[in-house]
Amino acid sequence: MHYSSKIVMALFILIISSNFKSASQVRTTYLLDKNWHFSKTDDQSAVQPTFNDATWEKVTIPHDWAIKGPFFNGNDLQNVRIEQNGEQKESLKSGRTGGLPIVGTGWYRNTFKAPAFAKGKRAVLLFDGAMSNPVVYLNGEKAGYWGYGYNSFSIDVSDLLNIGAENTIAVRLENLPESSRWYSGAGLYRNVHLIITDEFSIPVWGTYITTPEINKDFAKVKVKTQVKTAVTWQKGMRLETQILDQNNHAVAVQTAILETTDGFQFEQNLIVKKPLLWSPETPNLYKAISKLYLGDVLKDEYSTTFGIRSIKFEAGKGFSLNGQYRKFKGVCNHHDLGPLGTAINESALRRQLIILKDMGCDAIRTSHNMPAPELVRLCDEMGFMLMVESFDEWKAKKMKNGYNRLFDEWAEKDLVNMIHRDRNNPSVIMWSIGNEVPDQGSKNGNKIAKFLQDICHREDPTRPVTVGMDRIKDALNNNFASLLDIPSFNYKPAQYEEANNRLPQGFILGSETASTVSSRGVYKFPVAFAKNKVYDDNQSSSYDVEFCNWSQIPDDEFVKQDELNYVIGEFVWTGFDYLGEPTPYDSKWPSRSSYFGIVDLAGIPKDRYYLYRSRWNKNSPTLHILPHWTFPGREGQITPVFCYTSYPSAELFVNGKSMGKQSKNNTSNINRYRLMWNDVIYQPGTIKVIAYDENGQAVAEERVETAGKPHHIVLKTNQTNLMANGKDLAYVTAEVVDAKGNLCPDDDHELQFSVLGAATFKVAANGDASSLALFHQPYMKAFKGKLVVTVQSQEKAGPIKLKVTGKGLKDAQLDLISQ
Ligand code: GAL
Repeated sequence: MHYSSKIVMALFILIISSNFKSASQVRTTYLLDKNWHFSKTDDQSAVQPTFNDATWEKVTIPHDWAIKGPFFNGNDLQNVRIEQNGEQKESLKSGRTGGLPIVGTGWYRNTFKAPAFAKGKRAVLLFDGAMSNPVVYLNGEKAGYWGYGYNSFSIDVSDLLNIGAENTIAVRLENLPESSRWYSGAGLYRNVHLIITDEFSIPVWGTYITTPEINKDFAKVKVKTQVKTAVTWQKGMRLETQILDQNNHAVAVQTAILETTDGFQFEQNLIVKKPLLWSPETPNLYKAISKLYLGDVLKDEYSTTFGIRSIKFEAGKGFSLNGQYRKFKGVCNHHDLGPLGTAINESALRRQLIILKDMGCDAIRTSHNMPAPELVRLCDEMGFMLMVESFDEWKAKKMKNGYNRLFDEWAEKDLVNMIHRDRNNPSVIMWSIGNEVPDQGSKNGNKIAKFLQDICHREDPTRPVTVGMDRIKDALNNNFASLLDIPSFNYKPAQYEEANNRLPQGFILGSETASTVSSRGVYKFPVAFAKNKVYDDNQSSSYDVEFCNWSQIPDDEFVKQDELNYVIGEFVWTGFDYLGEPTPYDSKWPSRSSYFGIVDLAGIPKDRYYLYRSRWNKNSPTLHILPHWTFPGREGQITPVFCYTSYPSAELFVNGKSMGKQSKNNTSNINRYRLMWNDVIYQPGTIKVIAYDENGQAVAEERVETAGKPHHIVLKTNQTNLMANGKDLAYVTAEVVDAKGNLCPDDDHELQFSVLGAATFKVAANGDASSLALFHQPYMKAFKGKLVVTVQSQEKAGPIKLKVTGKGLKDAQLDLISQ
């Protein structure tokens, strides 16, 4: 049967969504993003199609029900002893999940008219992720359910869908208290799709593409394609697979006939000549177009993006990509998007990746759970390597209601879905089956590790498996670490040598490193290395010298990365600040988001960004000085100046007077990577550094001036053109500056935002982890002179004007355009 009526399709689109993708007329994918109704209720009668949801909130999906707050320290208050942090007794932890109302039950309902397709079609609902314990009903019947809130899952609803008539989807979600160590978000926070195909078709994630041989002349491409049908084998079932390059030119094609013995799986081997390899620096992609026929009738068309690249992990040599040895310059990230909460948004993700790319970062660990599919696709396209992680818990508890509750029933299903969804993506380099699981120390730990690793090998023999281990003694003594493909450790640079001596693999990864804490623009005196340091203002120093009792300053990890050949890289905790886990203030309200980020929650780089950039970005030099130079009242006091630079040396001038030339040197870990003038006496004016290259030539200069009184607002954005799709975002940084344009680095003016034209104000964030201001209000205080306003496009083109005002300040306007 053909489903080819454009009229039907047009009608359907009008009714349920503006977004649809059609690979051809045989397969249609609808994005169920509009016309949802939501209520934070636990009224089971909401499953009934006749239920009246008129009073419920109208929402679009992705949606995070908790992000609008309000913040309250009683939300998910946890009385816990965090074992992995070495805590001896329980204490009350506020803000651990962000102080936001994630806990409870919520329902989503959507009524839509399905197209009048012929009987014999297959209809599948695909959820990219639903937080959490989703139970899905269609027309009053239970259609399916899942446990874990982070995984993608699909439900075949062919038998439940009313063809050509109204349908009601109802989804129940429930977050239990004490189920997370960070802000999990809540609700239908990732996309929901309805996929309609012929009954004889390729199922969700039905292709598996590997490249078993790659050389400069050709690559072998092996394509396994599953077929789903309720009927028995018939003659004439065949598959044509075509490989397209980035310009959509066909570079290979092959047709296979399904034999009775094939178990409804095609296997094809194609050759791509002169392949363009994928790497972070050259993210070349290919597409496989699978056309499924019964006789001469096209039954399905399915598209898979893949890449051609080789990975190797070798004893003594480390990790190589396409034959080139390299170390992971990675960050760990949680899944929230700061002020947007967990509601997935592609332009928010793209912005994060642009910021990380400029730092020279080439890898991301999706700690500690499966990422949104959009992140994986963007990493393919923009060039990042991924460690895709699954679990923060196995059977042994970290949290009362954590994944331990689900493990027995779901662990295998969760891994299978994770791997099937992402195993064609070249960005995915390895699977992580766990983070700091307490099972490392238990008798059963090795068994579970082997069970999970074997599942990964069965589903994807091409990628190695790891666990982020923290209990290094246990893991070495009981052979837990030696059974993993990649031994990875969290915060153990001092033990890399010992671990490598005792392990058979011959290489080690820093799966989680540093956990330095800092608040953007906050400088504490005297400057001193300090563990678990807390201050009255709930901030940490931006001199990058403060850390936790299990963690380090970045430099301590750098030394090991640089000295030990077999250490294959690091994943810094974290790239971006995230909601929840406000260590070292997790018992000290108000504090609701992390201090670990290299970049703050608003997306503004902290000083540490430039320290990593000075090491990682080999394409453009780094020269950055800290602190700011506006400290009224500090006159005559010691105020150290640090310089993070890719150059080997620099000279500091304070008000024109040289403070001497400093060169990176081996006298201490920190001296190897930072230039520091520790005895500078503060006087208002100008500090300036001149950088020198290896030949002693002055090559660059950077200066900071003492700011005068706050005078006006400056708006900066790197995106003035928006797509008129109702989803695109422009991030605009507002800075309070003096009359000469110098940042007023302590300013906390409340700023107001208004947007005119083809966009709306979405959220604002200032990066202050102790602020309880709501992100969606059109006003917010600047933090250390800055904040970021996010503007969202509408589904109409036209000019946009953002206006930002503040009492006593000359206001600012910015013109954007939506197309
Ligand atoms: C690690 C843990 C992370 C985060 C981090 C903070 O032990 O794996 O999830 O809690 O500590 O330093």
